[in-house]
Amino acid sequence: MFDTLEGYIQPGTVEAELVQQIDFTRLPVHVAIIMDGNGRWARQRNLPRTEGHKAGSEAVKEVVEASARLGIKYLTLYAFSHENWKRPPDEVNTLWGLLHRYLSEESRVLMENDLKLKVIGDRKGIPYPVRRELARVERLTRGNRRMTVVLALNYGGRQEIIRAIKKLLGRGKIKEIDEEIFSRYLDTAGLPDPDLLIRTSGEMRLSNFLLWQSAYTELWITPVLWPDFRKKDLFMAIIDYQKRERRFGGIQPVEKSGRS
Ligand code: IPE
Ligand code: IPE
Ligand code: MG
Repeated sequence: MFDTLEGYIQPGTVEAELVQQIDFTRLPVHVAIIMDGNGRWARQRNLPRTEGHKAGSEAVKEVVEASARLGIKYLTLYAFSHENWKRPPDEVNTLWGLLHRYLSEESRVLMENDLKLKVIGDRKGIPYPVRRELARVERLTRGNRRMTVVLALNYGGRQEIIRAIKKLLGRGKIKEIDEEIFSRYLDTAGLPDPDLLIRTSGEMRLSNFLLWQSAYTELWITPVLWPDFRKKDLFMAIIDYQKRERRFGGIQPVEKSGRS
């Protein structure tokens, strides 16, 4: 069981020092992560890219646990983009295989820790065995409340917006449309917008991630490659986030998170 941070963080460590700097009354509600740099991590070690992805799945487990223990309510992980199909079939197969394994192995951990799984992205394009496993774990964890782990799979922000428009058009005569109504047709319906978006490996771009939802998200980019990302990096991102002044276009700082 992931308890609180007690016992998880050893006194006198860098992590303990960082945790002391976190204001737990002002945590980001929703943290989203572009988990990038697996291939470069492997190349640095003269390993095949697929080894980087394997190491990356270990980082996923650590970040899920650390986020839940901190009290984050939503954690979104960009795991496979709509454009990642351009990669060699071997690499694509490894990525889906790892995902399948993660779901099978971690569904128990999700249940034990009251974590809910949700998928965003175009499900129809997800290989069938993975899609079936996703549906199983989503069903299984439906009633869990502590934190929602959102996996972005076969996901692209532009494609999501187009799918939303198609759904809207399918409903026949549209009398009214505004931001709130439109949001209900996105894959992220019901989720607050991300407060903090982390990208690893130093790339300064969104790569088609949460284009609509990240309008006022705080960005935090680290050169650390995803397989090396640890809880201390998550703590650093949150500390930096808490130093920012979010104005949402106004002139006064706004102490709020999410869409409402
Ligand atoms: C991120 O690492 C994982 C996925 C995109 C699925 P990359 O595989 O993109 O690693 P780099 O960017 O080539 O180093
Ligand atoms: C973004 O990383 C997608 C995921 C992390 C799943 P990419 O490695 O695919 O992005 P680009 O190609 O460098 O923009
Ligand atoms: Mg990359």
